[in-house]
Amino acid sequence: MINTIEWIDKKVKIIDQTKLPDGLEYIYCQDVNTLREAICSLKVRGAPALGIAAALGLVLGIQNSSADDYPTFKEEMKKVIDLLASSRPTAVNLFHSLKRMADCAEKNKLKKIEEIKDILEEEALKIIEEDKLCNRRIGKNGASLINDGETILTHCNAGALATADYGTALGIIYTAKEEGKRIKVYTDETRPLLQGARLTAWELLQEGIETVLICDNMAGEVMRQGRIDKVIVGADRVAANGDVANKIGTYSLAVLAKENMIPFYVACPFSSIDLSLLDGKAIPIEQRDVSEVKEILGKRTAPRGVDAYNPAFDITQAKYITGIITERGICEPPYQESLRK
Ligand code: MRU
Repeated sequence: MINTIEWIDKKVKIIDQTKLPDGLEYIYCQDVNTLREAICSLKVRGAPALGIAAALGLVLGIQNSSADDYPTFKEEMKKVIDLLASSRPTAVNLFHSLKRMADCAEKNKLKKIEEIKDILEEEALKIIEEDKLCNRRIGKNGASLINDGETILTHCNAGALATADYGTALGIIYTAKEEGKRIKVYTDETRPLLQGARLTAWELLQEGIETVLICDNMAGEVMRQGRIDKVIVGADRVAANGDVANKIGTYSLAVLAKENMIPFYVACPFSSIDLSLLDGKAIPIEQRDVSEVKEILGKRTAPRGVDAYNPAFDITQAKYITGIITERGICEPPYQESLRK
């Protein structure tokens, strides 16, 4: 499986996802500003991958620090953290990683600065390894829900390209296939930036999974025709009551799934869960440039001067969600209890 994000020779190596599906190109980020730009422009994207990018970004940002006492080092680290925290607001993995890195530095503050830098590098690598393990476990847990011959609908990209390896929603499909089940996937194209068409369809083809691409507005009719057995999507942030923020369009899918009596599952690691927020209303939703709505892949499709609106994520209320599949098991409603447990 492809490596979406890696730490190589003190640089962050990422696949430039804006170039897919036509070109598999890599970028080496040598400084935190380049990495932050890659995050903002979605060259690297997907909640778990953003968590990893944030941790590695911190390592990049402090690697040339000449501070020789902890308070100065901490001050520099805070600037780097603030810079990375201002990149994308919705995926909580990014914030969890930054906090974990800051806590790790604090725990080791009595050590020499060069030693702290090495410890932070190791911590970031640990986050990568944990994510890989996590996705395999999510895959195993989720595959237990999938029967041979089923057809799954997914949205956006919650695959290897959104994580260190394997993916969450797609990881479940890969595991089901490894278990010998025959699985077919309907992939929503996912306007405005087409993560479904460009990334998920590409990834599934690479893995030899039967895939049918549909425009987002076809999902309802495809469900009504009885073509879909289950919907499985990823998450950028899950609130304590089980409300889920995920790529714009997820909420419509969940409502349609309920109307058509199709189970609707969310797959995510615990690093996507934010128990500090009571419900989805408190989740910050990223607003992106309206040019993404008025254009498709950089080509204008709307009249000049038209107004547009571009929320990058939406909130699916817990009442629409059949289960939240995590590395620790499958949470069922009521989520206030199951997520905390
Ligand atoms: O804007 P993106 O491409 O970063 O949005 C990604 C999603 O919405 C994914 O579904 C989510 O991050 C889960 S990835 C395992």
